[in-house]
Amino acid sequence: MQIDVFTLFPEMFPGLLGMSVVGRALERGVISLAIHNLRDYCTDRHRVTDDVPFGGGGGMVMKPEPIFAAVESAMGAAPDRAPVALLSPQGRVFDHSVALEYAGHERFGLICGHYEGVDERVREHLVSDELSLGDFVLTGGEPAAMVIIDAVCRLQPGALGDPGAAADDSFAHGLLEFPQYTRPRSFREHEVPEVLLSGNHAEIARWRRQECLRRTLSRRPELLDAADLTEQDRRVVKELRAEARAHCGQA
Ligand SMILES: C[S@@+](CC[C@H](N)C(=O)[O-])C[C@H]1O[C@@H](n2cnc3c(N)ncnc32)[C@H](O)[C@@H]1O
Repeated sequence: MQIDVFTLFPEMFPGLLGMSVVGRALERGVISLAIHNLRDYCTDRHRVTDDVPFGGGGGMVMKPEPIFAAVESAMGAAPDRAPVALLSPQGRVFDHSVALEYAGHERFGLICGHYEGVDERVREHLVSDELSLGDFVLTGGEPAAMVIIDAVCRLQPGALGDPGAAADDSFAHGLLEFPQYTRPRSFREHEVPEVLLSGNHAEIARWRRQECLRRTLSRRPELLDAADLTEQDRRVVKELRAEARAHCGQA
């Protein structure tokens, strides 16, 4: 998979993407990053990439010409071009399903805005998507691009040391993951649940599924509506709800 990043701050990359799992995936060629400096696509002597907004107001707006030139030169012309997303707090929110969608592309591009953002014609006539990390405003799109690249990279075959590691992660089956413990068995008199020490794989799997449901019900109950639940799961959720009601009644 190749990911093209368009930025005014190429020196920010690979940054944290050069380390740990993504760093190793880059070294092994599981993904490759092409970082394009938007300033290299300016045609004026001073390589100006931003200007004041029409209509007045504070801040600077990124000019459309270098962004169009960079994307078209690196990735070709629409409609044959791979998907290109503009990072924006106004885009669709990036979640696990969007990560899976992008993990299915052989190549995609990310445009990092800065200052007041980018000229609207980039959104209207250049990109195929707009992605947001959530309802807050970052200084620039670069940290958002890194988060998206990290999440997409770990879904690539060969990115994780243990190929099955992502299968139980939160959201992979529409639920939050069960609690994890490691050694020591007893820490400051806080014990690891007995079932995890039992060696009984069926019991462990049953306990983990129940804890996934318990955790999702208490923290993100709305996820249960869309999750693919078995009859047994539904029974457990009913019991957990009754347990929670009884607990509230006691309090
Ligand atoms: C200061 S922000 C511009 C915000 C813009 N004036 C607005 O109110 O919608 C600068 C750049 O940071 C990036 N950015 C900010 N918040 C983001 C978010 N939640 N998700 C993704 N990118 C974001 C975008 O690339 C944006 O163009």
